[in-house]
This record gives sequence, C-alpha cells and structure tokens, in this order.
Amino acid sequence: MLRQALLVASRSDGARKVMETAPFTGDVVRRFIAGETIEDAAHVTGELTGEGLLVSLDVLGEDTHDKDRAEANVTHYVELLERLGAAGLGARAEVSLKLSAIGQTFDADLALENARRICGAARSASTTVTIDMEEHTTVDHTLGVVQELRRDFPDVGAVVQAYLRRAEEHCAELAYEGSRVRLCKGAYAAPAAVAFTDKEEVDRSYVRCMKVLMAGKGYPMLATHDPRLIEIASALTVLNERDAGTFEYQMLYGVRPEEQRRLAAQGAQVRVYVAYGREWYQYFMRRLAERPANLRFFMRSLVGR
Ligand code: FDA
Repeated sequence: MLRQALLVASRSDGARKVMETAPFTGDVVRRFIAGETIEDAAHVTGELTGEGLLVSLDVLGEDTHDKDRAEANVTHYVELLERLGAAGLGARAEVSLKLSAIGQTFDADLALENARRICGAARSASTTVTIDMEEHTTVDHTLGVVQELRRDFPDVGAVVQAYLRRAEEHCAELAYEGSRVRLCKGAYAAPAAVAFTDKEEVDRSYVRCMKVLMAGKGYPMLATHDPRLIEIASALTVLNERDAGTFEYQMLYGVRPEEQRRLAAQGAQVRVYVAYGREWYQYFMRRLAERPANLRFFMRSLVGR
C-alpha cells in the first residue's frame, strides 16, 4: 500500500516542482544522489573506481515533455562521456540512459536518434550505454530501440524487470552471445495484468530469469541488493562454470555499500549505479518506495530543514 502511494507520489508534477526547487541538501537525499554536476559525478566515479568498483552513471531528468529539455539531456550525456574519456575512465565507467529523458514520451524517432548520438559519444570514450527500463507501457518500444541500436552498437545493454510476467521470455530472447543484460526486480507501479505484485512471486521470477541468463551465452548484469538472490547467483556461477569476467553484480549508490565492497574483494565484478543531477525527485521517491523505512528519516530531515 505504502509502496504504491509513494510510486503514485513520484509521478506528481506539483510535488516534484516544490521539492526540486527547494534548497534541499538533506542527508537522506544525498545518500542516494551523488551530487548535482558533472564534477560531482566525476569525483564519485574516481573514488569508486579507485576502490576497484565499476560504475554506471545516470543523469537525472526523466519524463521529458519537450524537445529543448531532451536536447539539453543529450548534450549533458555527451559532455559527461567526453569527460570520462578524457579521464581515461571509459574501461570502468559506463552510462545508464532513460529513453524518457531524451524524447520517448513525445517523439519515438527522436528518442532513437538521440540515443544513437549518446552511443556514438560512448564509443568515442571507449565505453558503453545501458538503456534503463521504465514504465510497463514503454517496455516493447524500449526493447525495440535496444535491438535497433545494437545493429551499430552491439554492446548496448538491455534491462529486464523480473516483476513483469513476460520477464523470462525477455531473458530467453536476450541471452545470446555478446548481449549485455541487466536483470532487476522492477521499480515502477505495474498492474497485476502484466506484473507479479506479490514480493515472493517477483523473487521467484528473478531466480527463473537469472537461471536463463546465467545458463545463456550473454553477459548477465545482476542488479539486486537481495542477499538471498546474491547467494543463488553465486551458486549459479559454479553450476554454469562461469568465471568472474563473464558477469557482474550491480547495486545502487548508497545501498549496501559494504556488500558492494565485500563482493569486489572476493574477486567479483561489481558495478555501482550512480545517479546525479538536479531532477532527483522521481528517482528518490522510487528508492523510498523500495524501502519505506527510509521515509521516516526523510520526513525527519524535512521537518528539520
Ligand atoms: P529488495 O527491494 O527486495 O531489497 C533487498 C534488500 O536490499 C532490502 O532488504 C534492503 O536491505 C536493501 N535495499 C533495497 N533497496 C533499498 C533502498 N532503496 N534503500 C535501502 N536499502 C535498500 N528498476 C527498473 O525498473 N528499471 C531499471 O532500469 C533499473 N535499474 C537498476 C539498476 C541497478 C544497478 C539496480 C541495483 C537497480 C535498478 N532498478 C531498476 C531498481 C530495481 O528494480 C529495484 O527496485 C531495486 O533494486 C530494489 O530491489 P532489490 O533487488 O534490491 O530487492
């Protein structure tokens, strides 16, 4: 119930405007958002990669409804990628991209064209792009864009959300040689007609998907903080005789940082998803929805500001 309410609130434009324009620097927000500028992102990337972790950078600014904002987001990604390339960080840091940030909501062709430009900039910086998965209504279009982009940029990463009833099917289609696939549980509100709504069912779907990806020929990117699923992943690497270079774990900046370092110290590849930018509201609300216990700290910090 609370999760649904927080996800509905995440879509409220009014709340978003009030929150994002407030001079808000609360600790709870800063726990999940790495800063506001490219400098902040570069700084955090340098620190994490220095500790042996990999990074995926997300420029906040989803759900764009006009061409100028979409163009500003593309320009920002290109600048970020130039910065990563110049710093020689391309081998350890990629970018994550939401198609809704670059036009998907109002012009599907424009979104594809913009994604191509960002993939081109990523290639120049010797790195890659993963296309995030968003609302369930956009899944088919987003997978189509990934397929289209992979003609020219075969290393573009796809995302499968385990809460979708079709997730296992998506994994089977994507488990081919060279295919980078991030598996996550799914962070948006989705109706029972298309998604599992019971947590246990979502977890079971995640396991089924993981089995398909780990037995397949692609490069699985297991995005979860769930200790049980991480344990099962580890068993699947043994079962499928996968060595550490053939898959990676992924976790969010600010969530279970000790576990990120523990896995890396054991020799696993671990990528930290680092979101930054001024438009933090929607991303932050999804983090609250995942763990409503965070809400208490957030409310306290609002009262205290
Ligand atoms: P679950 O939510 O069951 O959490 C397991 C444990 O992890 C919790 O008990 C807690 O200890 C810890 N935890 C999880 N979330 C926390 C939080 N917010 N704060 C504090 N502790 C927390 N989704 C999507 O729809 N599209 C996408 O493209 C992506 N991309 C993506 C990339 C990466 C790298 C990650 C890690 C996640 C995503 N997600 C996503 C989000 C994903 O779908 C999911 O909502 C979260 O990862 C939470 O699910 P868990 O698998 O961690 O399990």
